[in-house]
Amino acid sequence: MRPITRRRFVKTAGAAGVGLAVVDRNAAWTLMAPSDRVRVAVMGVNSRGHQLARAFAQQPGAEVATICDVDTRAIAKTVDHVRELTDTAPQGERDVRRVLEDASIDALVIAAPDHWHAPAALMAMAAGKHVYLEKPASHNPREGELVVAAAPRYERLVQLGTQRRSWSNVARAMEELENGLIGRPYYAATWYANNRPSIGRGQEVAVPDWLDYELWQGPAPRRSYKDNFVHYDWHWFWHWGTGEAGNNATHMLDMARWGLGVDLPTRVTAAGGRYRYDDDWECGDTEIMTWEFPDKKIITWEGRSCAPHRLDGSGGGITFHGEQGTLVIDRNGYRVFDLEDKLVNEVDDTAASSDQGTVGPGDTLDAGHVANFLEAIRGKATLNAPIDEGHKSTMLAHLGNIASRTGHVLHCDPSTGEVKEDPDAEKLWVREYENGWEPKATE
Ligand SMILES: NC(=O)c1ccc[n+]([C@@H]2O[C@H](COP(=O)([O-])OP(=O)(O)OC[C@H]3O[C@@H](n4cnc5c(N)ncnc54)[C@H](O)[C@@H]3O)[C@@H](O)[C@H]2O)c1
Repeated sequence: MRPITRRRFVKTAGAAGVGLAVVDRNAAWTLMAPSDRVRVAVMGVNSRGHQLARAFAQQPGAEVATICDVDTRAIAKTVDHVRELTDTAPQGERDVRRVLEDASIDALVIAAPDHWHAPAALMAMAAGKHVYLEKPASHNPREGELVVAAAPRYERLVQLGTQRRSWSNVARAMEELENGLIGRPYYAATWYANNRPSIGRGQEVAVPDWLDYELWQGPAPRRSYKDNFVHYDWHWFWHWGTGEAGNNATHMLDMARWGLGVDLPTRVTAAGGRYRYDDDWECGDTEIMTWEFPDKKIITWEGRSCAPHRLDGSGGGITFHGEQGTLVIDRNGYRVFDLEDKLVNEVDDTAASSDQGTVGPGDTLDAGHVANFLEAIRGKATLNAPIDEGHKSTMLAHLGNIASRTGHVLHCDPSTGEVKEDPDAEKLWVREYENGWEPKATE
């Protein structure tokens, strides 16, 4: 697996009878041993998956071999885009089960809707593939537990798509935090703000000819097709999505856990609901959630899906409060304030975040996370966002959602996150599946 010189590669490849018909822009991977090449398939490419296909295609030593989607338009768009970037067109495939039968695929990148995340990850691992899994790690707590258990069982790597784990400014801030930058940090305040429009009332209509709705639903029990959830707005229906908490809080909660050095909470509360519009949107658009941890530490999240006012200059952010001051981390770096609330240090990392996109942070900030996943597959790095950590961060979002949906204060076992003596909460630990689509625990 060690990198080899071009000369040695030519010799080795020649001896093995491997052709060298590669284009110049892939020169970087011609310098690597053939075994260092990682062939990926990307599942779900309307929006985030398109961005990830782009990120993987631009990585040395990676090949986007297959584009999988149940929307024929999304396949065509992304196949074309990868071909423009690499001069090689990936295969297009509708059914992820066919993709997983291809023994030449090393890894599956999952950017389909949330109800597909854990089932697809389990199927991929059972087929011997590593997994880059978009956040949230699961649609419900039980699915997350299954994925965490499966990774070591199948000896597969699962990287959660919490790409901030690979951002240089975040890593540096976390290191300084641990070294006492603001004394003992005890409170992480997180937020997200957007101006999402109403999704109206869905009308039952014919399934569009470009969509395989049966496969889009996959593990979820069947519902008639309506015109207001494919694409993207499925996020706001509990049947398929996890609301703004699963969608956007997960990123911030992950950093909050990292900075405070906490895992799972003892007590969870949530208040709010669908306050801005009266429509089909089921999850909250206005939410305040809190998670308390052992050793007097707390995380809060303010979610405003329809009220875009920014806090501390950011539409999604995190502030750590400690005994000696406050640390604000954003995309461009971080700032430190003393107990007089005076700015005492400002670190600018704008170069790293100069290329921001609308379906994730953009090429530059996705690149590090994707590269880390590929290097881990090659045995040259450890994952920055392994699934067991990603599951805990996703669990905070799930517990916040369960507190919101039940209207209960949740008392949890901090070693598992399990809610104590609350049958209503217990019901939301799992979901029902379409017959034949139940995710399989490891054999
Ligand atoms: N890490 C980040 O910054 C980030 C940013 C945006 C979205 N995401 C995550 O990415 C996921 C996708 O979000 P999105 O905004 O792109 O949603 P989207 O609805 O726009 O796209 C989802 C795509 O998945 C496809 N799909 C559905 N079922 C499929 C199946 N069985 N096989 C193959 N493709 C299938 C859909 O046809 C669609 O093209 C979500 O889970 C979201 O949380 C992460």
